[in-house]
Amino acid sequence: MTTSLMKRFVTPRIVRVALTVLAIVNILYLSAYLLGVSRSGTRRTKIMWYGRKMAGNAVSDTSGQVEAYENMKPSEKINEILNRITNDKEKYWLGHTELTDYELRIRVKDFLKQNWENKPTIFYDPRFTLSVYLNEIKNQYLVKNPKNEKSKIHEIVVPFAWSDWVDLTMLNEELVKPENERKTCDYMKAVHHAPARDPNYCLNNEDLTQDELDEMQLPSSFYAPGFSIKKSPTNKASNEVRMWEGKSHLLTYAANPLAVIFLSKEGVYEAKIDGKQRIVDGDLFEHYLQANGYDSAKHGEVQFVMNPVKEFKSLLAKVKPNPMLPEDDLYGMVAKIKDKNPTKSKELYLPQQAFDYQQPNIDEQLKSYDKKLKILWDASTNELKHDQDSIKNNLLSRNEKMYFEGLRYADSFSPRKEETYFRMARLNFGNEENDHDAGWHYEWRFFNGALRYMKQGWNEEELLIREKVLLDRILRNWFRFANEKGIISWIAHGPLLSWYWDGLLFPFDEDIDIQMPAQELTRFAKLYNQTLIVEDITEGFGKYFIDCSSFLHHRGKSWKENHIDARFIDIDTGSYIDITGLGISEEQAPDKYKDLIEESNSRGAPRPVYNCRNLHFYSHEELSPLRFTMMGGVPLYVPNKIEEILNDEYSKGMSVYYYEDFYFVDAVNLWIHESKLDFLFVGQEYKDSFGDTDPEKFSELVKTISEEQVVLLLERDEDILMEYYLTKDMTELHRKELTYLFDMPKGENTLIGEIGHQKTQQEISSNPEYHKFTSELKFQKPFRRSIFNYEKIDKPKHHVA
Ligand SMILES: *[C@@H]1O[C@H](CO)[C@@H](O)[C@H](O)[C@H]1NC(C)=O
Repeated sequence: MTTSLMKRFVTPRIVRVALTVLAIVNILYLSAYLLGVSRSGTRRTKIMWYGRKMAGNAVSDTSGQVEAYENMKPSEKINEILNRITNDKEKYWLGHTELTDYELRIRVKDFLKQNWENKPTIFYDPRFTLSVYLNEIKNQYLVKNPKNEKSKIHEIVVPFAWSDWVDLTMLNEELVKPENERKTCDYMKAVHHAPARDPNYCLNNEDLTQDELDEMQLPSSFYAPGFSIKKSPTNKASNEVRMWEGKSHLLTYAANPLAVIFLSKEGVYEAKIDGKQRIVDGDLFEHYLQANGYDSAKHGEVQFVMNPVKEFKSLLAKVKPNPMLPEDDLYGMVAKIKDKNPTKSKELYLPQQAFDYQQPNIDEQLKSYDKKLKILWDASTNELKHDQDSIKNNLLSRNEKMYFEGLRYADSFSPRKEETYFRMARLNFGNEENDHDAGWHYEWRFFNGALRYMKQGWNEEELLIREKVLLDRILRNWFRFANEKGIISWIAHGPLLSWYWDGLLFPFDEDIDIQMPAQELTRFAKLYNQTLIVEDITEGFGKYFIDCSSFLHHRGKSWKENHIDARFIDIDTGSYIDITGLGISEEQAPDKYKDLIEESNSRGAPRPVYNCRNLHFYSHEELSPLRFTMMGGVPLYVPNKIEEILNDEYSKGMSVYYYEDFYFVDAVNLWIHESKLDFLFVGQEYKDSFGDTDPEKFSELVKTISEEQVVLLLERDEDILMEYYLTKDMTELHRKELTYLFDMPKGENTLIGEIGHQKTQQEISSNPEYHKFTSELKFQKPFRRSIFNYEKIDKPKHHVA
């Protein structure tokens, strides 16, 4: 949850009560950062929010047509400018989000097994990995499960090593050296701000016993980078050391996922993972060559083109995606989403039971697992009870075993004594200039440099674009996955508020929160904990790891920073979506729910008021029915009583037009920084007596921005132009949607901040126009370039120092 977001949207009285010192420090960091103010010196410039001005006048490149353009009406000018983006893919490359450069040329002999004997160094390119795996999975399906029956899904099995899936090539710097010259744990410890909680979190190569090597599944210490990281050191360190540690952990001690799931527009493909093995050490590459007609006699030295998109399309053509059986679609959500009947409602009514997960549920599950294990034990150790059928009926999958162990483990702790489950990459920039980014937003294992940390070869504008790319893609892939698998979730906190304004993520928010009913959370964890999800390959090469806290069975307040129950982690960067469950607990609910609770108590019914472990409360009515909508071109759900929920959390969030130095511009449906707008108001009064911008006055001006001024804005600033181009259709659709959900005093021309109250559920649900509207929502083209394209290909090509 973004504490910084609260500042603007909460009344000062509540600010005083609610904000901890930490949050304030956070805000200072953020605002200092946004203002381009360096705490340590003057080297930082204000380039970022001032953006790149367009080279010359945007209009000049239409040479002959200049006059014609100048005579156009503002709306025609806007169309004309937008058309230029559509037509000039080279200049406006950021506006074209289709995947490009997905072919990889290799020299085959470099990747043959014999070449990699005794070679600890790492090769990484997602195009290589994905081509090889997609081919392998397709061929296994064709042989073992050509009709893709659910009962045979576990027969598709592949080996796995994190080094093929995450870029660990930084470790090559050490792996090429003789063992005794490699970095050791001391190198890491030297920059720690405090000793690691567990001093044995790191082992030097000379201390690696056979047992340790067995645990890491490495052939010898030669394959360890010099320092092997068992677990998070939990303290703060430099950006660089945090990267060494996370990457070493993935190479050495990190457990493999249990399964990998490939997303597609038609459904998913799943393979189980067994055994740690790099591609170059096994047979997968040879299988790939065979399947692609490689003949060593003929091709020998020739370059070979690997094409993961081609492999993916071939998989789609030859094997049907995994079936989603109606009994697995517990809440009928998948069926509902896929139903295109325009008269049917897409609202999702949640049973109260979905939120009722308490100690008796835990006890019951433990009892049932114990019983199963007893039967299995007897059936395999007692010849009088040998019985194949009862073994078969009681077998646990690896997922269930893990879930059961987690359940037993969680049950042995009281909430006050839990161990913290998720660990972040905590950073300590010392006197470096970028100390605003304290690193709390990255999962430590997958940390690949702080987003806002100036990397070499990057400018700030580029880093910000990268951040948008990431968050958009994580959101997109979570809901692609959840919508295919029938997992119930909806957006909450900052993202819900930003959805309200323009159906996009805030440009200044750093994380994404989603919520689930508590029962659903356990079902999700049992099915998908430790699963790797791969993006639809035709859209990008994103990979996301699902990790569920052992303690998600507890529904009361979290005392040990376990208020996040699960994460959907982008393994290229360590960014993630926070997933929290809502359930019944014994925590005291706010007064406004008093009557509701008393009423249900008097009937002996379960409390219809639910909380997360960070003690945000919601009533059943506030949440259900979930409303199908779209954010950033992604179909997803929001809770029922949007206004009530947002007003509780951000008392003025739905009407105040500014946050820090950002202003909401109704004319383009975007949040834009003051520094990009003030040229429109030269000579106007908006300063206070200290000469600072008075946000109230400035926002009144912003509300009056006309079409002529929009033209000026788009001509002047390429970043705004691009954002407008990418989001315009979606934000306009969102505005239309708001007319079904809220009272609009001035019809469709109502400013967002002046919208009236939310309509009653009866009014919304009985409107056939609303159902027709929601029946047409579907995934749009991604708004951003894929991170792989952006980082590896476009950015280096278009970089301006
Ligand atoms: C998820 O998997 C991890 C790693 O095996 C395990 O520690 C954790 O308990 C699991 N979570 C749940 C809810 O089972």
